[in-house]
Amino acid sequence: MCHMRVGVVGAGGMGAVHCRHWSAVPGVSLVVFDVDREKRDALARANGACVAADLEALVDDADIVDVCVPTDHHVKVACLALSKGKATLVEKPLARTLEDAEKMAAAAKASGAQLGVGHVVRYFPEYESIKNAVANGAVGTPAAVRLRRGGGLPRNFDGWFGDQEKSGGVLLDLAVHDFDWILWALGPVTSVYARSVSLGQTVEGAEFRGDYALATLQLASGAVAHVEATWMDPAGGRTTVEVAGSAGLIEYDSRTYPTVRTATSDGTRLEAPNGPGMDPYLRQLQAFHDAVEVGQPAPVGIDDGIAALRVALAAIESAKSNKTVSISA
Ligand SMILES: NC(=O)c1ccc[n+]([C@@H]2O[C@H](COP(=O)([O-])OP(=O)(O)OC[C@H]3O[C@@H](n4cnc5c(N)ncnc54)[C@H](O)[C@@H]3O)[C@@H](O)[C@H]2O)c1
Repeated sequence: MCHMRVGVVGAGGMGAVHCRHWSAVPGVSLVVFDVDREKRDALARANGACVAADLEALVDDADIVDVCVPTDHHVKVACLALSKGKATLVEKPLARTLEDAEKMAAAAKASGAQLGVGHVVRYFPEYESIKNAVANGAVGTPAAVRLRRGGGLPRNFDGWFGDQEKSGGVLLDLAVHDFDWILWALGPVTSVYARSVSLGQTVEGAEFRGDYALATLQLASGAVAHVEATWMDPAGGRTTVEVAGSAGLIEYDSRTYPTVRTATSDGTRLEAPNGPGMDPYLRQLQAFHDAVEVGQPAPVGIDDGIAALRVALAAIESAKSNKTVSISA
């Protein structure tokens, strides 16, 4: 095991989560940068990390650059890191626009540096186990899929999260997790139709404060999926998955225990795949670190990031136009 210097850019919510988990990866030391000096210094203190005076200094100091800044800033940070040949992990969604994502892809191709995307849901044991169960035929041929993700308004909703131009709203910021899972577990999506109610829209004469969306996806396999995303649930975070197939139904609800339930004509089985050593953020960071250490491609890479982004952007377009949007292969 060699020593690896990880530079975390962004000392907000996800920067804190990443630093805490990087600290548990053997052989890693940390350097932190944020445009807000107080946040940078506080995060560095909490994790025994060094501080970088500016972005350039962080990139020069790091072996891995971990991008935890607001979504519309991903491109600037990632392209600088990639242009200097640094392995780069970008929080999801890969970018705010396809053009930005393509710039990142080009920068990664030019330097040969690994570019990973933080589609962490793949590392949640329940989502991983449902993907594997479906692939192993637990519910027969999948036909109808339903995913839900949501919670209350993000803490800084009045900052960049509530600005659709910056965050993409729930269809990009939240649902991109589920679009990625669907692509990973069930294959390509050919079209999407979405409806949403967003900040500033009027509902029954009152200005709406929040963000809610429902997207219906047609899969190339013939299956249909619907993805619901909301920042309208003050009870806090909740995610669910349901896959119904020719031989039964498998489902997960983060608010139940055990969390995964499989029902077939043989009966109903309950499981709790979560357990020690299964922290999804730690598994994600460790997997990227291990790939960089041995010079392998990122486990969740640029093609995955772009594919999920394309579905999310098509859903946003559909919600605006009230038309079904096709997604070409
Ligand atoms: N994987 C997940 O579960 C998950 C959860 C929440 C957010 N995210 C994603 O993580 C990213 C960051 O979200 P967050 O919740 O941490 O946001 P945040 O607003 O809490 O933190 C962002 C930080 O970046 C800093 N910043 C802004 N521009 C910068 C720049 N150019 N250079 C350096 N620092 C800069 C800000 O000062 C702030 O401290 C977003 O892309 C978001 O979609 C992922």
